[in-house]
Amino acid sequence: MRVLSRFMASATDAAQFPAPSLPEIAFLGRSNVGKSSVINSLVGDKVARTSSTPGRTRAINFFEIRWPGKPRPELIFADLPGYGYAKISREISQEWPKFIEPYLNERATLCLSIVLVDSNVPPQQSDRQLLDFLTASDREFLLVATKSDRLSNNQLSGALRTLTQEYPTARLLPFSAKTGAGRDELWKRIRQVAQQMTETEASSGTSLP
Ligand code: GTP
Ligand code: MG
Repeated sequence: MRVLSRFMASATDAAQFPAPSLPEIAFLGRSNVGKSSVINSLVGDKVARTSSTPGRTRAINFFEIRWPGKPRPELIFADLPGYGYAKISREISQEWPKFIEPYLNERATLCLSIVLVDSNVPPQQSDRQLLDFLTASDREFLLVATKSDRLSNNQLSGALRTLTQEYPTARLLPFSAKTGAGRDELWKRIRQVAQQMTETEASSGTSLP
């Protein structure tokens, strides 16, 4: 499946967020974990800029997602700046509270935070902090183990076991932007939560702000 996407806005400040409208999916994770690559893999096009240099994405980039043949966009993807990379961590950790925490806490249309962790790297303190933050804020999230193509089946099973032990309450999905493994399952979950939000909105008779 290929979807149509359009770049909407790049925000470094809450005032620059597009008006909340459609169900929104945020992609979060350490620098270089593959956030932009996951978005490109889902969309089937190179919309988000990827780089082998960690810390490339410095702003929240918003993309509208539309299915071919449908008149209107149905989803928004938000590509967030990475955290946890030593060289830029000072700068980013100053930026994080300023607009990423408000984004995660207050964005009314945010229906799923996809937290990416590298399946080749052991669990990290910074990931734990983010997951604790999301759990405390009562937001729906999904843990995605990226770059699964770099591991043998055995190694991947071990990595997934370790992640399940570390984050026992999280839903976990292995993914590879390179091979497309996990892509259909990830789309399925995204459509599920977006559908739930649309239905809740319809049944409560309120429209989104
Ligand atoms: P920042 O925006 O800097 O935080 O990085 P990011 O999380 O957006 O990562 P990005 O998508 O730019 O990918 C970082 C590097 O990992 C690039 O060199 C990608 O080619 C590589 N990469 C991403 N996903 C995969 C994957 O599934 N498999 C493999 N083998 N490499 C990947
Ligand atoms: Mg990126």
